[in-house]
Amino acid sequence: MRCYYAVTITILTITLHTGAASQRVRVEKEVVSHLEKTVHLPCSFISEGIRLTQVTWIWEQVDGGREAIVIFHPSFGVAYPDSSLRGRVKFINPSLKNASIVITDVRMADEGKYICEYATYPSGNEQGTTLLITVVTPRSTASTVTVPEGTVPVVVARCESTNGRPPAKINWVTEVRGDTTVDLKPGPDNTHTVISEYSLVPTADDNGKDITCEVLHRTLDKPQRIQMKLAIGFPPKVRIEGYDNNWYVGRTDAMLTCQATGNPMPAVLTWKVPSGLFPHTVQIKENKLVVPKVDDSVNTTFVCEVRNQLGVGKDQVTVVVRDEPNEEQCRTPDQEEVLKTELEKNRLLIENAKLHREVLLLQKEVLTLEKERLLTKRDS
Ligand SMILES: *[C@@H]1O[C@H](CO)[C@@H](O)[C@H](O)[C@H]1NC(C)=O
Ligand SMILES: *[C@@H]1O[C@H](CO)[C@@H](O)[C@H](O)[C@H]1NC(C)=O
Repeated sequence: MRCYYAVTITILTITLHTGAASQRVRVEKEVVSHLEKTVHLPCSFISEGIRLTQVTWIWEQVDGGREAIVIFHPSFGVAYPDSSLRGRVKFINPSLKNASIVITDVRMADEGKYICEYATYPSGNEQGTTLLITVVTPRSTASTVTVPEGTVPVVVARCESTNGRPPAKINWVTEVRGDTTVDLKPGPDNTHTVISEYSLVPTADDNGKDITCEVLHRTLDKPQRIQMKLAIGFPPKVRIEGYDNNWYVGRTDAMLTCQATGNPMPAVLTWKVPSGLFPHTVQIKENKLVVPKVDDSVNTTFVCEVRNQLGVGKDQVTVVVRDEPNEEQCRTPDQEEVLKTELEKNRLLIENAKLHREVLLLQKEVLTLEKERLLTKRDS
């Protein structure tokens, strides 16, 4: 136990000591600036009772070269030595207590460590270091690539984040599985352009699915999101609806509907009869084939053929005209459902009635027993 306390105290002492020394010159650890902007580099000495004689800002370039850029001495005033920053660096309100500076028209080459160094008496030099980082917000764009459906992976979307510093990071968000590639190209002022592509084996099902390119960059508070929809081209997929296998002679307003999807959206739709003779009783209204009154002439096969730039799709229905309506077939699935529910309701009602009767019988039995009990009691 004793040993434990001793160790703790030693560590604490060391921490406090080094902490106090480094904290007397107060600076920012890191400042980030856009190019051509003005940046503040604060520096102050916060301890009382120390004699401060002079404060100097030293710039340590990325390649290691060092130069003094500003000096303040209470008697000699402010000096700006000959440096690459001369004319663009200035004390804000110079004093020994507060040696904050500003750098205007920040350039890429200004990056590096800025050391605020105090000459003190009697403890010597004390310093604080600020890292200056320059940033450039990238300009980002994205687009999808329209491709026909296929069997090998191809690029379906592309996202480009141009001239960012540091380079942006690109994420893809989509429910459609695919692969991403990233390419980095150098740009001006040490910027980079990041190009990411999203590839997949394109299927008709992927057409219209959401895909988002997410650009992350330290100059952006939140990721920039560019939302798109995949564009996969495919020939028309066609389905004829409306034949219920119950077209009988005399039935009115029978109708077939030709449904088609495709990318590009199909524009040309044709109804055909393979036997060649198109029944004259039939009316065509866009994608609908209407039979005002069914007769033998529609006892045939109807084909719906749809075309777009990528090809043709078709579906067909063979109509069998009956002499009499088929009652079984007359019921639509909905009606069957209603019937089922109705039957179930009846069954429950019957069940209920049965239970009710049983309860009544039991009550009657109880009464009889009670009566018998009373009778026996009176007799004895
Ligand atoms: C130092 O001076 C700058 C500019 O006048 C000011 O923004 C900052 O708050 C001062 N810092 C301290 C610790 O007084
Ligand atoms: C419709 O054609 C079928 C054969 O495809 C034939 O069996 C049936 O009798 C025909 N119905 C009428 C009403 O002509």
